[in-house]
Amino acid sequence: MTGELSPIDKAKFVAAKRAVEFVEDGMRVGLGTGSTAAWMVRCLGELVRHDGLNVIGVPTSTRTAELARSVGIKVVSLDEAKWLDLTIDGADEFDGDLNLIKGGGGALLQEKIVATASDQMVVIADAAKAVETLGAFPLPVEVIPFGWQTSKALIEEMIGSLDVMGYLSALRMNGDRPYVTEEGNYIIDLHLKRIGNPRQMAMVINQVPGVVENGLFIDICDQVVVGYGDGRVETRDINNGTVEESQIEFVESDNLFRDLND
Ligand code: A5P
Repeated sequence: MTGELSPIDKAKFVAAKRAVEFVEDGMRVGLGTGSTAAWMVRCLGELVRHDGLNVIGVPTSTRTAELARSVGIKVVSLDEAKWLDLTIDGADEFDGDLNLIKGGGGALLQEKIVATASDQMVVIADAAKAVETLGAFPLPVEVIPFGWQTSKALIEEMIGSLDVMGYLSALRMNGDRPYVTEEGNYIIDLHLKRIGNPRQMAMVINQVPGVVENGLFIDICDQVVVGYGDGRVETRDINNGTVEESQIEFVESDNLFRDLND
């Protein structure tokens, strides 16, 4: 029963279900990574299997690719698709300008490349991801393993002159070893607490040799679909300046999704 879903999962689910309504027949769609994006992939798979929707998916991680295939979505690489109509992905934080922090799941590099190669990026999130100012969530920065300690020191030095409240940075670990991304890189998480100027921060960090990419998505996201545990959904469009509200009803068939965990 959907009653078994936690309120947070319900919120993610309804956001995902609303967002797949943006997908039209024949579209090439970027498929994000993370627990919210996994709901979206399941919802899209439903449309493919039951409604005959014809889409091509470009996943942003191996785990999303596996899930997409398992629910019946045709998957190709970004190079095969070349350009996408739409990307739907989760986020760790979003602000009022729809700037994002992403990369909590470690897939920020592919996510940023795929979202940037799309006409539209739609973010799906529960309401807890909305913030006034980015930075409570640690900002992930992907660095190459060679000289990572030097890159980390340089990043720390550079953020010292920026409008932030915290200066701690930490190499992301996987047990007692560094976490390694799908591209073979490391991630340094910056605990900044507050990022006063995200655009400046994104540009400054990417100047450090060894930095591959950072988790700030500036001017990339077009719409955020915010889900609530009671089925309410809010769609905020930054280009039109509109906020639309709707209600997604939980139905029995939605239970099909409940046993698939990202
Ligand atoms: C993956 O690298 C991230 O960018 C995710 O999109 C982000 O962490 C949101 O994940 P959840 O939907 O699991 O919160």
